[in-house]
Amino acid sequence: MALRRIGVLTGGGDAPGLNPAIRAVVWKAAELGAEVIGIYDGWRGLVDGHDAEVWPLDPELVRYWDLDGGTHLGSSRTNPFNLSRGGGGKRVDASDEVLQAMARLELDALIPIGGEDTLGVAARLAKKGARVVGIPKTIDKDLNGTDYTLGFDTSLRTCADIIERSRTPAGSHHWVQVVEVMGRHAGHLALWSGLAGGAFITLIPEAPFALDRVLKLLDDRLAKGGRDRRFPRYAVVVVAEGAHPSGGKEITLEEKVDAFGHVRLGGIGSWLAEQIRQRTQWDSRSVALGHPQRGGTPSPIDRVMGHLFGSAAVDAVVAGKWGHFVSAHGIAPACEIKLESLDEVTKGWRLVDVARHYDTEHYRASHTILSV
Ligand code: F6P
Repeated sequence: MALRRIGVLTGGGDAPGLNPAIRAVVWKAAELGAEVIGIYDGWRGLVDGHDAEVWPLDPELVRYWDLDGGTHLGSSRTNPFNLSRGGGGKRVDASDEVLQAMARLELDALIPIGGEDTLGVAARLAKKGARVVGIPKTIDKDLNGTDYTLGFDTSLRTCADIIERSRTPAGSHHWVQVVEVMGRHAGHLALWSGLAGGAFITLIPEAPFALDRVLKLLDDRLAKGGRDRRFPRYAVVVVAEGAHPSGGKEITLEEKVDAFGHVRLGGIGSWLAEQIRQRTQWDSRSVALGHPQRGGTPSPIDRVMGHLFGSAAVDAVVAGKWGHFVSAHGIAPACEIKLESLDEVTKGWRLVDVARHYDTEHYRASHTILSV
């Protein structure tokens, strides 16, 4: 189709890789003679009263954006199908306003960049006739239908770096350092950063743990070497924010749910450190990596994937592939880029394959790699 104007927005939690993707959309569109309009703060920028917060994205303006973390377009967790309006907890379906704003802004297409929530909204809007093509991002890497989501690689590096750094204080002071990482219901970030950073134990949501066993493994680990002081006496435990003991449930920071029905997870790390202090002879410290693990400059992989996803999304727009999102198949960045139906992201999460990648006895990445 002849393209005149495309809108682009970023929604949900920010992630490194968003700006490189926006830049690629702008550059690819410019090559085709089309204009790109940046929409501020995700879906919030397209519901009534906010659609003035848009501006044209010139290729020169976005020239350096590949180097920047976060999103220059801002983000929000606004759900137009469940919008809080008028106070008093009142919620309305404002999805028609998005369609009207798209018409008012004369957008031929919209490229939302986001995770399950943002792309879930896109899937529902596509059913109402919106011309949308999505781009996947989330440090959680839990989206169905794609092997890569923007932000994961940078976040993996950040988490691995901090896990690695936490080994020396833990070794000097002979304690158990607990490191809590994000990931919501998925353990990808915890599992692979734990492996890369040298954690002794990694607890993930997909495999509820037996606390007694965790404590016993730690006790045995720290007791090794006996009174011989030459050997380091410490352990690092990485715990995904959604991990929980068997029979228990996730620990939350607050009970309130957002517009997509999510609670804010957090607190399992400090709970675990407390259990270690109370129930073993070892001291323990905990740190929750929090939002800085979503921060920083995009890694080379996130820059390349932003380029591939952004350019492919414009290709898909030109081909009129509404209701799809661009997806990676294989190992990034040498992966195949395909299109998947946006409905895929609403069908559930892509979780850690426990049978293949996790050792439920030692609570770590599996050491059994080849079944020969
Ligand atoms: O989905 C990305 C993510 O960073 C999760 O890992 C985490 O649970 C959540 O967002 C945090 O949300 P917020 O930024 O609203 O605190």
